[in-house]
Amino acid sequence: MKNDFLWWRDGVIYQIYPRSFLDTTGSGIGDLNGITDKVDYLANLGVDAIWLSPINPSPDVDFGYDVSDYKGIDSKFGTMADFERLVETAEKANIRIVMDLVLNHTSNQHPWFLSARSSRENPTRDYYIWQDAGPDGKPPNNWCSVFGGRGWEWDKKTGQFYYHMFYKEQPDLNWRNPRVQTEFLDVFKFWLGKGVKGFRLDVFNVYFKDAQFRNNPTKLFGRRPFDRQVHRYDYDQPELTGVLNDIREVLDGYDAAYAIGETFLSTSEKAAGYCGDDLLHACFNFEILEAKRNPQILMQKILEWENALGDVKWPNYVLNNHDTVRCATRFGQGEEDERMKVMAAMLLTLRGTPFLYYGEEIGMRDIRVRRKDILDPIGKRYWPIFVGRDGCRAPMQWNAEPQAGFSTSKPWLPVHPNYKTRNVNAQANNRSSLLNFYKKLLAFRRSQPALIKGDFVAMDVNLPQVMAYKRSYQYNTLFIFLNFSRKALVITLPVGRKYKVALSSKERPAREEYTGKMGLMGDEALILCE
Ligand code: GLC
Repeated sequence: MKNDFLWWRDGVIYQIYPRSFLDTTGSGIGDLNGITDKVDYLANLGVDAIWLSPINPSPDVDFGYDVSDYKGIDSKFGTMADFERLVETAEKANIRIVMDLVLNHTSNQHPWFLSARSSRENPTRDYYIWQDAGPDGKPPNNWCSVFGGRGWEWDKKTGQFYYHMFYKEQPDLNWRNPRVQTEFLDVFKFWLGKGVKGFRLDVFNVYFKDAQFRNNPTKLFGRRPFDRQVHRYDYDQPELTGVLNDIREVLDGYDAAYAIGETFLSTSEKAAGYCGDDLLHACFNFEILEAKRNPQILMQKILEWENALGDVKWPNYVLNNHDTVRCATRFGQGEEDERMKVMAAMLLTLRGTPFLYYGEEIGMRDIRVRRKDILDPIGKRYWPIFVGRDGCRAPMQWNAEPQAGFSTSKPWLPVHPNYKTRNVNAQANNRSSLLNFYKKLLAFRRSQPALIKGDFVAMDVNLPQVMAYKRSYQYNTLFIFLNFSRKALVITLPVGRKYKVALSSKERPAREEYTGKMGLMGDEALILCE
């Protein structure tokens, strides 16, 4: 198995939000050298790649998701030399770097946009989406910004509207312009040339909008104006396929290069539709991340995802990211982590590439941010309907020292008050910690062909609180039982064999054999082998 190990298919990818990982300069913001310092930690944890949320120069209206130079490194994170050192250090530890490319829009401070809005004749004018006002001076259609208000911003100087799906400081690019396409294929090559192995494509299915700018149909219900539209015309347009083909062609020119798309407003079907040999290697499907902690609902979503992908396209699973309330906050009960172990066991034993988000391995909880301290644009605009995404972006909790060892000065977002007990150091020294469970699972996953390459078959154990499935590859078969309830239960094992415990989130006597019926402890994640 070793020889055909394909990192993005067989490995585990760890997302870092660089602002919050480790600050080595005392600026209050994490930096690239901080990540380099922690490569050993990540190697020891057992991950194969790091996805870095954007590190390009950005005015930070949307914290890096508004880029002003696609080939640069923001000085708050360090220099290009620091980046190269990170790539090199990571490579030595067998860890690849995945860059986040935000190609749907630029910052309004990007030189292309600055020129574009300087005159209608400017050569980069057509890099963006400009439209005349309607006869009454209104925007050309009803498209909205997902971050609030209408999607069109009037540019007084040149007398036209420009379109923005996100903040008005994030003008959308005109992907129908072949020059935009060429610029970005070149950006891929630039980073591949620097040793980057993969890309996460921010909201890639928004690149194209309807060429005729037709109004979206409206519907009655929805929290925001954006939710009260059927988004027929402002994303998911058929022209996207050609661009994905071109991106894939570039990637196929490099060894094991990879792209995963962030599917904006995803469903299993939609995300699967964008994966393929001449499309993207993978796409995020957020239906599972958005689902309740209910084993039946989760299993149904998993099966839908498996079905949509079929045998050829490769699944991926994610429980946390920089846009979502952390799973430990959604599902945790106080400071207890037993439930998190069950979630971790699910994430790391399903068929597909698992994605972890920094701090997930120690069960970091979201911070609470007071209204006046909110930094995230969505939170500022929609509080209290949406409190924003600051909560899941707090500094990594390394140790019990001031600022959790993240920084020597006041961090850009506050450290969670639980850091004195919930931190990497404390958990590393506690055998039964969540961190040690993640490590154990990651090592176990790597040693089991069934978990990496095996089939996935759902099992019915007739207990609504339990998720059960079988993974098998050649002679290696594993049975996974996840108890989503606090109650001890009795499971019936498939007949005819003796089973041993391969791994459990609870203490279990070694070498005991089980047949027939077996007790499953409350909140237990149990993996049996034959
Ligand atoms: C993606 C990012 C999110 C960002 C948005 C606009 O959804 O994950 O953080 O705000 O795109 O770029």
